[in-house]
Amino acid sequence: MDLYEHQARELFEDHGILVPRAEVTDSPKEAREIARRLGGRVVVKAQVKTGGRGKAGGVRLVADPAAAELTARQILGMDIKGHTVGKVMLAQPVDIENEFYVSYVLDRAAGRFLAIASAEGGMEIEEVAATRPEAVVRIPVDPAEGVTSAKATEIADAAGLPSRAVDVLVRLWEVLVREDAVLVEVNPLVRTKEGRILALDGKVTLDDNARFRQARWGADDTEHDDPLEAAAAAKRLNYVKLDGEVGIIGNGAGLVMSTLDVVAGCGARPANFLDIGGGASAQVMADGLSVILSDPAVKSVFVNVFGGITACDAVADGIVRALETVRLTKPLVVRLDGNNAARGRAILDEHAHPLVQQVTTMDGAAARAAELATTA
Ligand SMILES: Nc1ncnc2c1ncn2[C@@H]1O[C@H](COP(=O)(O)OP(=O)(O)OP(=O)(O)O)[C@@H](O)[C@H]1O
Ligand SMILES: [Mg+2]
Repeated sequence: MDLYEHQARELFEDHGILVPRAEVTDSPKEAREIARRLGGRVVVKAQVKTGGRGKAGGVRLVADPAAAELTARQILGMDIKGHTVGKVMLAQPVDIENEFYVSYVLDRAAGRFLAIASAEGGMEIEEVAATRPEAVVRIPVDPAEGVTSAKATEIADAAGLPSRAVDVLVRLWEVLVREDAVLVEVNPLVRTKEGRILALDGKVTLDDNARFRQARWGADDTEHDDPLEAAAAAKRLNYVKLDGEVGIIGNGAGLVMSTLDVVAGCGARPANFLDIGGGASAQVMADGLSVILSDPAVKSVFVNVFGGITACDAVADGIVRALETVRLTKPLVVRLDGNNAARGRAILDEHAHPLVQQVTTMDGAAARAAELATTA
């Protein structure tokens, strides 16, 4: 789960990292009051869980409380990359001398963390990373050792950060570990004209597996970044939205994962991951189908089932009953194999829905679904 900037700011503050004074609101009138409390001049910042807010006009320096109200009114409700701004944070402006970039991110493949740092932080960091990769250093961090002062010094020296940033690097590691994060990023980390080091913007991604101990973010917890994922979560489906056009339903996470691979191998892209698990009741099948069919990117759907304890005839019954409640609008390719496969196939044959076709092998069915999606 991603946190909002204001939540990240709160965590940084808890761990002794300097941040500008700031308050959050969803009301322009209150924005005026907050600006007054913060001294008049403030930075008004859209709170959305996506990057590039500044470039989209969602971060603006204003001169006084009246301008803060007006600007808050403009930013609230604004759309930034598909995210509607529901809250703004008003922060005290800081006199910036330099902007740096620092982050820790979990490197799953390597089984450790990566410290990424640059002396050229700010809104152009992606550009810097693309055109002058040598200006961004990447240093592995052993999770068991963590970021000690020595490690932090190594990172700061390699990136060309001031020595005062060492303490921030150590504290930022504490944020990562104590708050169950898999990513913490500060961009920009700034040095002020007086030489103080402050975090002006923060991004924190918490490990979803640790949600049970992160009750603190309770209400915001339910916000899914994707509306289809939100609909699926409401139906308790194990669904992840992907970028392709072949909808996927399977039973068992391993089978679904390999289904994604096989579909990709056929030259199409999976539109989602959906594991309907062992039971595969008609209700779950209907719920899964309705979520997948409501995705406008989906051109075909591939149901890949290997019957085990739940036999294929039960799954076929589930599909038939699901089709009574869900109006099928796209071709459905079904592959049934395993326990009672013949019986299951016969049930679907009898039902003879014009948009449903069966292919007996996984490779063949994937190829058919891919073909239907790419020629649709
Ligand atoms: N409190 C502040 N005082 C002075 N300048 C600020 C302050 N907050 C942000 N800025 C300036 O605005 C720029 C953009 O702000 P910020 O990093 O928060 O947004 P962003 O990077 O566009 O958003 P995102 O991280 O979502 O891409 C910063 O690089 C900094 O120069
Ligand atoms: Mg930023």
